[in-house]
Formats: sequence, C-alpha cells, structure tokens
Amino acid sequence: MCGIVGYIGRAEALPVLMDGLRRLEYRGYDSAGVALLNGGSIESRKAVGRIANLAEAIQQNPVHGKTGISHTRWATHGGVTFENAHPHSDQSGRLALVHNGVIENYQTLREQLLAKGHQFKSQTDTEVLAHLVGEAVDGAGNRTKAGLVEAVRMALRQVIGTYGIAVIHADIPGVMVGARRGSPLVLGIGRDEHFLASDVSAIVAHTREVVYLNDYEIVAVEAERFDISTVSGSGADFQVSTVEFSADAVDKGTFPHYMLKEIYEQPNSIRDAMRGRLSSEEATAKLGGLEMTNAQLRAVDRIVLSGCGTAFHSALTGEYIIENLAHIPVECEIASEFRYRNLPMDRDTLVFVISQSGETADTLAALRESQRKGHRTLGICNNVASTIARESDGGVYMHAGPEIGVAATKSFTSQLVILTLLGLLLGRIRHLSHAEGRTIISEMEKLPDLVAKTLELDAEIEKVARKYARANNFLFMGRQANYPIAMEGALKLKEISYISASGYPSAELKHGVIALVNEETPSVFIAPQDAVFDKNVSNIEEVKARKGPVIAIGTEGDTALAKICDDVILIPHAPDYLTPILSVIPLQLFSYHIGVALGCDVDKPRNLAKSVTVE
Ligand code: AGP
Ligand code: GLU
Repeated sequence: MCGIVGYIGRAEALPVLMDGLRRLEYRGYDSAGVALLNGGSIESRKAVGRIANLAEAIQQNPVHGKTGISHTRWATHGGVTFENAHPHSDQSGRLALVHNGVIENYQTLREQLLAKGHQFKSQTDTEVLAHLVGEAVDGAGNRTKAGLVEAVRMALRQVIGTYGIAVIHADIPGVMVGARRGSPLVLGIGRDEHFLASDVSAIVAHTREVVYLNDYEIVAVEAERFDISTVSGSGADFQVSTVEFSADAVDKGTFPHYMLKEIYEQPNSIRDAMRGRLSSEEATAKLGGLEMTNAQLRAVDRIVLSGCGTAFHSALTGEYIIENLAHIPVECEIASEFRYRNLPMDRDTLVFVISQSGETADTLAALRESQRKGHRTLGICNNVASTIARESDGGVYMHAGPEIGVAATKSFTSQLVILTLLGLLLGRIRHLSHAEGRTIISEMEKLPDLVAKTLELDAEIEKVARKYARANNFLFMGRQANYPIAMEGALKLKEISYISASGYPSAELKHGVIALVNEETPSVFIAPQDAVFDKNVSNIEEVKARKGPVIAIGTEGDTALAKICDDVILIPHAPDYLTPILSVIPLQLFSYHIGVALGCDVDKPRNLAKSVTVE
C-alpha cells in the first residue's frame, strides 16, 4: 500500500507532488510527507492524517524546489505518528527516501547500524533502508549520479523484503533514484521533466508516456534523461507504454464520492467486460487472452479460483456460475491461504487469480506458488500494467477503468461477467448446444440495461438505508450463487460504515446464527425468484417469528415478499447465473447510503487501503 510520487524538472515540484498524492490517497492515508531539494539542502514537511493536513502544514511553512519526493503512508512498521511519516533521512540528514513495502530483515540491519553508531528517529523499517543507502554514499565518497545509483544498489542487495522507493540526496542535485521489488513503481516521461509514481493515476495529468519498472530495476532520473539498470548491476531492457485512460477517468465528476460514481458506471463497465467477447455466430465466448486452444481447454478437469476480499467473493460466485454452465469442478482458495497451503492439484487443473489492482501481495504470491508447481496460471485483472497481469501466463482484462473508491464495486461485477464468459466458453466446449449458447449470449447482452434499471432503485434504497442506519449489527443471507453475494454485502457494509455484519447461506441460520436475531438486528435476504425462492421464504419466516426486521431483495413482480418482510427491493428478472450481477447492486448502494448517513468517509474508510501490496 502507500503511495509514492517523485518529480524532477523545470517546474516547481510541490504542486505536482501534492496533486499526485491526492490521487494516490486511496492507497493509504495514515500520514503524508514531502522532501524537496533546494539550493543544496533538503527540506521536508510531514503531517499525520490526510493529505489535507500536509497541505495545511505546507501553507504555514512553505517549501520550494524543482526536485522532490513524496509519500502517503499505510503503516506496517511503527505506529501512525509524525516521526514515522515518510520521507525518512539517513544518518547525515542529507538524504531523503520514501518507501512502499516491507523490509523483512530490518531488525538485523538496524542492530548492525546501531552498533556502528547510527541513531534512528522512527520505528519504521524504511528508516533503516535510508541509513543503509546514506552509509553507502558516505562510505564510497562518490557524490555523483553514478555514486548514488551504486549506493542504492549496495543497500538493496542487503535487503530482504519488498520495496518501491524514491531517493534524493542534497549533495547530488539533479538526480532522483527509484527502484522496485514487489511494490509497483512507474516512470513518467515528460518534456524536460520526469516523474516517479506508485500508480499512473498520480501522473496521468502530466504525461501518458510511461515505463513500468520491473522487479529489481533501478532508475536514475534526471530532468532530461533517465537510465534503467538492475540491482545486480546489469543494464535493463524497457518499453515505453502509453496510458490508455485520461486524467478525467480518475476524477469524481459530478458525484460526491468515487464509490457512488463507480457504482453508477456499472452499465458501461459490464458492457466493456463483454465487448468483443461474445460471438453469436459460434454461440460462445471469445477469450483470446487465455492463449489456450479449445483442445487445451477441453483437457481442463478442474479449476481453482483465488483472490482476496471482494475478489475472493467473486471467485465463490464464479464457482456456482462455472459449475452450472460448464459442469467443471471449481475450487476457491483465499490467496493468503493458498500461498502457504500445499493444495493437491491434478495435472489438468487450471488456476485463475483474480485481482482488481493486480498488485495484491497475497494474490501475487498465490500466482507464483501455482506457477512454481507447474500449473498454467491465468489472471483476471483490471490494471493492465500490474505485476499480476505481467507475470500470469495469460488472462482476461476487466476493462473497468480506474477504480479509486477503496470499496470494490464495479470491479466485482466485471469479474462476475468474466467468470460467466468463462463458464460459457468451457460449457460450449463440453455439453452446451449452439442454441443454449445463443440463449446465454442474448441474456448476457441484456445485462447493461438491467443494471441501469437496477440503479433506478437508488432513491428507494437510500430511504431503506436511512431507516436502518443506526443498527449495530446486520445479517446478510442468500442461497446458491447469492450466498457469496450476501458475504459481499456484509463486507461492503463493514468497510464503509464500520457496522458489524456477516453473510451466511440462508439455511445456516438455524445452525447458530439465529441466536443473533432480535428486534434490533436487521436481516438482509437476497431472495430472487429462483429455484430456491421458497426455501428462502421459509428462512425469512423463521427470522420474522423471532421479531427480526427483514429487508428482502426480490424479483420484479414478486408479491409474496412484501407480505412478510419489512422492506422489499425488487430487481429485474435474470437467469439464475446472472442474478448475482444485479443483486449485489442494491447492497452496494445500501452500504454507501448507510456510510453517508453515518458521516463516514466512504471513499477512504479507516485502516484500509485500496491496494494491499504488503503481506
Ligand atoms: C473490497 O471492497 C476491498 N477493499 C478488498 O477486499 C479488495 O477486494 C481486496 O483487497 C483485493 O484487492 P484486489 O482485487 O486489488 O486484489
Ligand atoms: N513499511 C513502511 C512503513 O511502515 C511502508 C509501508 C507501506 O508500504 O505501506 O512505513
């Protein structure tokens, strides 16, 4: 997590850094800081909390310079304090460094440095790295660009862990050094200016020409040029890419929050996830990115889906969808467990890792573990330039556009669309007829309009949300493919409003959960008109018999639910395998409106960060 922005050029660095930090604030917001190089010295400003606090500190005590680095932190080592805020300095106080990641052997390194007389001001692992680089600069006495690069290289060779870093030195003006391993870092190329950032959204307002650095690469950046080499000292090949989206795509527009904007983008993001991937003529899905022939896909006899948080919920939903459409056994693994679990996998198991950011450390580790075992491992990612997208053996992009709100919304429905496309493709290779394939395609093509219709329920959902906003505990229930949707609804509510909530299969109620039911605990039932509708109704009756308030998500035209539930939200009808894409939308809006009603910062919930690049 955490965000880095660096600038070197002819303009004042501060506005670029502050604008970039604001755009990266979704990655972490415990504290923030900048360090600028000005007339042979480094001046830094820091503040605990949001970027706004840093802006205020700078207003009171301005800082200038045409080279600078900056950071917004998501603490891993050391509390949320002023001292622990980045940038950190070395022993001489002449060097400043920002870091995203975790230095695992920092204790050992710190003790070695302490024994040499170094003094530390913070509890962070990052400060140890700053001291290591500074020591290497001072030891070699080479105060040149090459000297700084070599010092960074020497320090990084001693480090175990992950890093995306940016470094400047007061005695070596005109250069900023960046490096990465495990945490993302991108170089932005401008005219007589260059940028470093954790994510392109921080710099896309200034340039669309970028180089995504690879692990173990070091870049020495000057205003007019840059050099990329590796930690081991060799040269590196690189490719200049053009960023597809514009600065507008990362703005809120007229919406009060990114989360709401992204919920409303779903008719389009769903359309984009399907675009060019449905063939009516062949009555199947086309997923060229898998880079597998039909014969290879025919040989797959088991699928493993892995991810974290919301991406794991899409995996669980995908299990129902793919098993239903393709009759292939699917197993879901939370990525953080998968990476350490010795999961027995047959030779013909195909593994998918699912990640919006493509940078989630646990999911990346699951990908690598699966590849280590010789399995073809594919990615379902939104961020096309991400590490997972690059390291996987193929995959499918979501094309959902940047998702900035910390709560995943549009990426979730895009993932479900892709898993449905996969179910259709695998199903058609096996037992689905041409006519059945055509029917699935025509149902999928209706989705964007059905989603738009579901969004029209917003005002109604807001009313219900306000009615229950003061409850302390919520239960979410659903069956079959809507069981993971219940889990996703509970996760959204927890993240956005800090209200305790849990999701269960409806029938689990009687095995323990029902003990929680009382007049103060609302239950949200996802009960569309499907094969298990009557079963859900029985579970609703069980809750009502114990005076629990019930909010039901049902299907348009339903009259039964209104008779027994306190509040009913009716979504358009869709086949069972597509219902989750619609039923999750009222739950997203429900948690959004409760969060707003409670005055929560819905785009940046406490303790969270959008992209979890640490273990
Ligand atoms: C979702 O609302 C969460 N913020 C979180 O669970 C997220 O889905 C998870 O961290 C995985 O992220 P990824 O899709 O970028 O890998
Ligand atoms: N480990 C560093 C710290 O705690 C950086 C954390 C991060 O990458 O979020 O300050």
